[in-house]
Amino acid sequence: MRIAFVGKGGSGKTTLSALFSKHVTNTQKPVLVFDADLNIHLPELFGFKESVSPDMYISNNEVTATIKKYLIGNNPNIKDIIDLRKTTLPNEYSNSIDINNLDTSILKDYLVKKDNLNLAIVGTYEDERIGKSCYHGNLVVFENILNHLVDTDGYVVTDMVAGVDAFANTLHAQFDVLALIVEPTKRSIEVFEHYNHLAKEGGVYKNLFVIANKIRNESDKNFILEHIPEKQFIGFFNESEYLREIERTSSSLDISKLESENVKLLDKIKEVLETNAEDTKDRFSRIQKLHNKIV
Ligand SMILES: Nc1ncnc2c1ncn2[C@@H]1O[C@H](COP(=O)(O)OP(=O)(O)OP(=O)(O)O)[C@@H](O)[C@H]1O
Ligand SMILES: [Mg+2]
Repeated sequence: MRIAFVGKGGSGKTTLSALFSKHVTNTQKPVLVFDADLNIHLPELFGFKESVSPDMYISNNEVTATIKKYLIGNNPNIKDIIDLRKTTLPNEYSNSIDINNLDTSILKDYLVKKDNLNLAIVGTYEDERIGKSCYHGNLVVFENILNHLVDTDGYVVTDMVAGVDAFANTLHAQFDVLALIVEPTKRSIEVFEHYNHLAKEGGVYKNLFVIANKIRNESDKNFILEHIPEKQFIGFFNESEYLREIERTSSSLDISKLESENVKLLDKIKEVLETNAEDTKDRFSRIQKLHNKIV
């Protein structure tokens, strides 16, 4: 099952990705988290900061080449890693990554892990690429991994880059649930409307759900309910004293200290993800359509 947290800058994508990931580790199933933002924050929230180095980033050139070569496998039609497109789907020659065997997988050297929580970092700009590359280039290997990742019996969680960027590549089409974080502000509702429009165009409207974050009172709730259709709405995540304290102390997350109402919302997200987990064929057909369009 796969979920991505998306939304406006500062809406709470990283916070909710981290909390949700920690929450589902209780299931004992493997949890694979991708930090796909330019500003890498998840290692700190998980208490992993000391164990991370840029040579583990999956967009690091050498790491990317190793992963792509592995995924291509013996495919006679793909002579060079550059021919592995972001829309190339697995076939009988290629290799996959199984979320249940991460410790022996091609990703093993690039994961930071604690028990069943595994974190992969896409990576930020390398100094020598400043001014001559865009972040979308870094994301291709992540798209390749998602195309070849078997995750029916586990959780894949992604902290995405801000805004509607996911529609510039295949990322909007890669998830069972796109959880759009909305704040009780007009700007945030505008982002929701834009996302809704793109999701309809991109054939992922049924995958788009909304979480209202930083809710303080009834008037915030009413504002959200006026603008978000019920069938797309997961629920309210309240303004949290605990999270404010985390920000002040830079400590790592401890779910047992989170307010019980907010923990209930994490449960609701899990329920929505489980109810909406798609057949892999549905996802592959979206990616194939993009492949036919792009390549
Ligand atoms: N429910 C909440 N209660 C209190 N503070 C919150 C809540 N949700 C998020 N925050 C705070 O809001 C700030 C932004 O959150 P976060 O970094 O998760 O947003 P983001 O969408 O990932 O931002 P960016 O677009 O910069 O990546 C952080 O300081 C975070 O601690
Ligand atoms: Mg963030």
